[in-house]
Amino acid sequence: MDKILILDFGSQTTQLIGRRVREIGVYAEIVPGDSRLTAVALEGARGIILSGSPSSVYDEGAPAPDPAVYSAGLPILGICYGLQRMTADHGGRVEPLSEREYGGVRVKLDVPELPASAGGGKAAAFLTGFGADGKGPGGEFTVWMSHGDSLSALAPGFVQVGTSAHGFPAVVVHEKERWFGLQFHPEVTHCERGTDILSAFALGVCGAKREWSMEKYVQEVRDTLRSRVGNRPVLLLISGGVDSTVAGALLLKTLDSDQVHLMYMDTGLMRKDETIVVKANLERLGAKHLHIIHCERDFLGALAGLEEPEAKRKAIGDLFITIQEREVSRLGLGEDYYLAQGTLYTDLIESGKGVGKKAHVIKSHHNVRSPLVEAKRNAGRIIEPLDRLYKDEVRALGRLLGIDEDVVRRHPFPGPGLAVRILGEVTREKCDVLRDADAIYISELKKRGLYDQIWQAFAVLLPIRSVGVAGDVRKYGWVLALRAIVSEDGMTADVYPFPMKDLIEISTLITNTVKDIGRVTYDISSKPPATIEWE
Ligand code: XMP
Repeated sequence: MDKILILDFGSQTTQLIGRRVREIGVYAEIVPGDSRLTAVALEGARGIILSGSPSSVYDEGAPAPDPAVYSAGLPILGICYGLQRMTADHGGRVEPLSEREYGGVRVKLDVPELPASAGGGKAAAFLTGFGADGKGPGGEFTVWMSHGDSLSALAPGFVQVGTSAHGFPAVVVHEKERWFGLQFHPEVTHCERGTDILSAFALGVCGAKREWSMEKYVQEVRDTLRSRVGNRPVLLLISGGVDSTVAGALLLKTLDSDQVHLMYMDTGLMRKDETIVVKANLERLGAKHLHIIHCERDFLGALAGLEEPEAKRKAIGDLFITIQEREVSRLGLGEDYYLAQGTLYTDLIESGKGVGKKAHVIKSHHNVRSPLVEAKRNAGRIIEPLDRLYKDEVRALGRLLGIDEDVVRRHPFPGPGLAVRILGEVTREKCDVLRDADAIYISELKKRGLYDQIWQAFAVLLPIRSVGVAGDVRKYGWVLALRAIVSEDGMTADVYPFPMKDLIEISTLITNTVKDIGRVTYDISSKPPATIEWE
């Protein structure tokens, strides 16, 4: 399959570049910025994108690509740091700005006549993306910038064809090579013409074929799965979330259902009726060996007396491993079974740092490095059928496999479950109160058509009681916080701007129904500085 190779220098938006290119229909692969560009790495590559970075090119140890990138004969698009990198690598100069250029900035194009025999023809295909009519270089539009360095001298051979409102180089093209540079971020949704520019590069300049489709991916994954696994058993640890359910469906629809073992732990920290729903969904998908481990008592026991968030996370992680090992050995699958995980493309990335050095940071659905997973990985017995997909692609795949829409649309839920949404000590009673309140909140969001506008919504039980009235008497009730955020990937988040009417009605419904809750508040903090979860 044709692909665009993205060299990741650690920008927060590298993932978005990959997503946008795939939205155009071209397969995009992200590799660490300093990867060796061997023939294998370049197989199918039609073009290379150099990503942004938190570093400056003149920093000591600033990330740099394999020099082969410039001799591979492939078109290159440098974005932000990528452009600065290309400039510095070819004898240009990059210097810090006195003030960052940040946010929406107007960019004006001024394209000199380039000789058609040299860069002219090649640049024309790229500059098509800038034209409002899709025909040629546009005049002026607003892009999204975020940089503290700028080009103070272009490298020989480069021509400036776009300038920012502050007078800095914004778009450059090479006269002879198919090399292009943008000081702004076309991958960010607020960037006007961003997708057009990326598609002009990927389709127009690189000539990549639009071969990326979910049907094709599924076919390929299924063939590989069948040939790798043969008739050995496969065990998948199910959390009940979208990823593991889709991975389960893929296994069940590809292999013999007798081969597929699904294990799910009911930790007692799950949402209301979660276990019943998970079971029903997996059985509907044809699961024959569904092992549900009821371990609520163990988890609540391990959490007793713990108040510190990290201590709670650790207790949960450790217990997960203990129970997992015990239960897996009870299944008697022998040594030669495969372990499957619902790892996504984004899980392979050390949070915020790009695919970078630790490409295979492992996601186990409880966020701990499980010795079982490590051992299986070392033995080459791990299957990660979703590891090239983004979350929205996993949802599309879920739909293709016939998974219930309710599961496919589900908001993310943290591995430690309600334990990080009950501030302070966790008890069974508090879990029940929170479960009830959360279920009302979520069901109201769905009824009101708001659920799908929100990236993640949940209730948090605060370790505070406050005064209220019940009939003629004073009573102390728990305080509940509602959270709802919009986000692209959970790295940053904005508060969902609720219509006040909905908030008030939901609050009334909760306090009328869940008698232990006396007061409801709405969390109006963005991330940063707050995180999405409260612990
Ligand atoms: P924060 O709170 O870090 O959350 O802004 C970002 C996203 O990560 C989820 N989250 C977790 N997921 N284990 C998980 O599996 C955890 O310990 C954990 N903490 C936060 C959170 O729900 C949000 O989607």
